[in-house]
Amino acid sequence: MLSLSNKQIILGVTGGIAAYKAAELCRLLIKAGADVRVVMTPSAAEFITSLTFQALSGNRVHIELLDEEAEAAMGHIELARWADLVLIAPASANFIARLSQGRADDLLSTLCLATNAPIAIAPAMNQAMWCNQNTQENLQQLNQKNITILGPGSGEQACGDVGFGRMLEPQEIVQGAADIFETGELAGINITITAGPTREAIDPVRYISNHSSGKMGYALARAAMEAGARVVLVSGPVELEAPPQVKLVAVESARQMLDACKVVPGDIFISVAAVADYRPANSASEKIKKNADTMELSLVKNPDILAHISLSDQRPFCVGFAAETQNIEEYARKKLEDKRLDLIFANNATDTFNSESALATAYWSDGEHPFPCSSKSSLARDMVSLIARCYRKSKVENR
Ligand code: C5P
Repeated sequence: MLSLSNKQIILGVTGGIAAYKAAELCRLLIKAGADVRVVMTPSAAEFITSLTFQALSGNRVHIELLDEEAEAAMGHIELARWADLVLIAPASANFIARLSQGRADDLLSTLCLATNAPIAIAPAMNQAMWCNQNTQENLQQLNQKNITILGPGSGEQACGDVGFGRMLEPQEIVQGAADIFETGELAGINITITAGPTREAIDPVRYISNHSSGKMGYALARAAMEAGARVVLVSGPVELEAPPQVKLVAVESARQMLDACKVVPGDIFISVAAVADYRPANSASEKIKKNADTMELSLVKNPDILAHISLSDQRPFCVGFAAETQNIEEYARKKLEDKRLDLIFANNATDTFNSESALATAYWSDGEHPFPCSSKSSLARDMVSLIARCYRKSKVENR
């Protein structure tokens, strides 16, 4: 269950007898490596106590929409942005009806309206309620809105009836949640991603660098791997662990990054690294002593790695990033053209560097697509999905 490790999951629990099974579900999600925050509807709290979920998840349980304490710490909008997945189990007939109408009259329904993360529900109700036309129409609506419906199963019910409406077993729900991330959109595709900053040595102990944390590049590597790609991550020095199954090539300088990239590109090249534009003309072999009051540093331009790969003969599908502080679209489109890119993601450098969340707009020759603010992992999955679609389109057009 690799795809759930480090995933931030909101487990929504609504009022039904199957709520007791959500405790086991919470435990299994955590065992799979997820970070879980539980949101209960007030009626769920009639079936099982918040204390159970607090003990299992290690996090405070959220119930009230208007809760001063919660809003001061992690309020509903932060929770909505924090989530990689909102998983509602059990989802009662009442909650399904409210979700299909887009209601925002309690914390869980409000969260569902506010999040950009995928939503999955595991329905649980009496078989007659499940078969009722209203419920079926509500489910159809949720289906059209891309909400994943896990189950229900069939069998003996708590009320004594037999039929459809039993919540899936926790292990089956965990598998369904993992499948949401494992899209297969890039199955069999080879991808190289550059990430992080580069360091340009002044002498053996000093260097020029920038504030890039590598978070976006690492999130993309993970999302691409989960979408089925074979990923090589060429990374400058960062404090992050490479995602499992991703081949890490650790480099320091721009020239080392270029050398590594020349060997690996594959089908798609995604350049997220904040490559230092200049390096010291001469890097001293011994530590420079601070005898003088001033010091002059002469800089020379670094190679443009993305342009090098994109302008090469056997070029892969090339994706760039543009972190700008002004005229974002104009500069991004110029880079798209100058570097002959297939796709570029642009954002505001001041919002993005070192931050946990981001927003961006994708530009390509005859189109654009805005991505709203969300966690970098959620944004990365949406970006990977767009890259996969554009890549497939380019393959069809070049046939
Ligand atoms: O020209 P600018 O640095 O703004 O372009 C940004 C894009 O180019 C990013 O995708 C970045 O990873 C890439 N780049 C590169 N090598 C450089 C400079 C930028 O690959 N020397």
